[in-house]
Amino acid sequence: MGSGEQTDLIRLKAEKPALLLAPMDSVTDAPMRALQGETGAFTFAVSEFIRVSANAVPVKVFHREVPELLEGGVTRSGLPVQVQILGGNLELMAESALNAVEAGTQAIDINFGCPAPTVNRNDGGATILQYPHRIYDIVKAVRSAVPRSIPVSAKIRLGWESVDEVDEIACQVERAGADWLVIHARTKLQKYRPPVFWDRVGRVNRRLSIPVVANGDVWTLEDFRRCREETGCEHFMLGRGALARPGLACQIAKELGLLAPEAVVETDWVKLLRRLSWYAGQQSRNRRDKTFHRLKQWLNMARTFGDFPHFDQVKKCGSEDEFFTLLERLLKQDAALPLEI
Ligand SMILES: Cc1cc2nc3c(=O)[nH]c(=O)nc-3n(C[C@H](O)[C@H](O)[C@H](O)COP(=O)(O)O)c2cc1C
Repeated sequence: MGSGEQTDLIRLKAEKPALLLAPMDSVTDAPMRALQGETGAFTFAVSEFIRVSANAVPVKVFHREVPELLEGGVTRSGLPVQVQILGGNLELMAESALNAVEAGTQAIDINFGCPAPTVNRNDGGATILQYPHRIYDIVKAVRSAVPRSIPVSAKIRLGWESVDEVDEIACQVERAGADWLVIHARTKLQKYRPPVFWDRVGRVNRRLSIPVVANGDVWTLEDFRRCREETGCEHFMLGRGALARPGLACQIAKELGLLAPEAVVETDWVKLLRRLSWYAGQQSRNRRDKTFHRLKQWLNMARTFGDFPHFDQVKKCGSEDEFFTLLERLLKQDAALPLEI
């Protein structure tokens, strides 16, 4: 495959709907990206953020954090992965972006949305939302550093404190030459508290000429339809909802015409968790504890944001074998119960 073709795997265009898998630090790691890629619902995934602090991030770190880069930039299941970087120093961000390209990324995203205090104290993520001119400088520095064929995007929140900040921030992102803009529809001060303000995303979408990706609090197909209606967007990013409700990404992809209506959707928890464990095992033999933690973490998310009923029972399990045996038993019992009408 020529480099031009490869780069086109990660590119957003008007009138070509797309569904992106959201970056979620310590959640959507390489095994999870591979699993989520199996459904065919997602157009591409964005990597967990890679922090640019005292030095430029070297090629080997990109390979470690985003192992897909060693396999043509796609997961084993064929999902392209865009590298996300985070930081406030222009030179280091530019140099890191170039290293990411050397490492094999086909596109770069810049994180201006992370609300974590340690990140913000170190001049990265959402803190930069307070200085729209700096967003311009950072996007411009990265855009200028990498070849034109490599798309550069930005991921923002609506603002630091007020949702009104987004108009100026979005304008700076576009002016700096970004290829698209992802908006998580709440402010930094809200952290993850509701509500989301999709109407503000819609206002930006109408004003900008680059594609705008709507993100935040899509938990059901009905939410998605409302989000599409209120934002007028054609491009969407799905995070926690994709994990909390297996099948949701496929429902949305069918609605967007990205999947055929008859496409089969896997929603069996045991099969999904075993697949994740398999992908993790393929990646590294000595990360079993981490994998086991991830399985529980996923079900915790499904309990919190979805309707998974058995987290309190399975969280006590001490081994993966015990975990799967108990889970299978509990789910079999559920299946045997008469339906409540
Ligand atoms: C655990 C967790 C980790 C996250 N890590 C990142 C990250 O590394 N980079 C980023 O841009 N956003 C990150 N986010 C934000 C998500 O990408 C997304 O914008 C947010 O969860 C809202 O979308 P959702 O409601 O569909 O989950 C993270 C969110 C969560 C819950």
